[in-house]
Amino acid sequence: MLFKSLPPGRQYFVSGVPGSFHSRLFPKASLHFVYSAYALQWLSRVPQELSDINSPAYNRGRIFYSNSPNEVGKAYTAQYAMDMERFLAARAKEMVPGGLMALLIPGRPDGTLPAESSIGPIFQPLESCLVDMANEWS
Ligand SMILES: C[S@@+](CC[C@H](N)C(=O)[O-])C[C@H]1O[C@@H](n2cnc3c(N)ncnc32)[C@H](O)[C@@H]1O
Repeated sequence: MLFKSLPPGRQYFVSGVPGSFHSRLFPKASLHFVYSAYALQWLSRVPQELSDINSPAYNRGRIFYSNSPNEVGKAYTAQYAMDMERFLAARAKEMVPGGLMALLIPGRPDGTLPAESSIGPIFQPLESCLVDMANEWS
């Protein structure tokens, strides 16, 4: 679908690369320009503390950090820092010296709590559906 939807009659090569952007995807020093839009907010894993009943970041019944204790937001923040480190380390090897990178990443203003994220409400209906489905099985 993606390749079919590309505008015809233009001069470029297109390829699909399997794997996660949190690790190496492209050959060393091969990229002149890196662009990522609205993708880096996805984490590589759910932070472990969220499913640990003895942790202050235990996040039962939620799929996100909105309406959660601050510890939950902190656990997501720590995971995000690790993931970004891996993303940037991998791209650093893949980019040519002097290459350019443009990243579009949803964020929130400095000084606000993770629970105040503006994208929280987007996930609430999904969370509610998943919890209903899980309850049907229990
Ligand atoms: C919200 S979409 C944005 C797509 C596109 N960049 C755009 O602006 O329309 C996020 C995309 O990131 C991809 N994605 C999420 N985590 C990824 C990962 N670790 N490695 C590669 N792609 C990932 C998803 O599969 C999805 O296609």
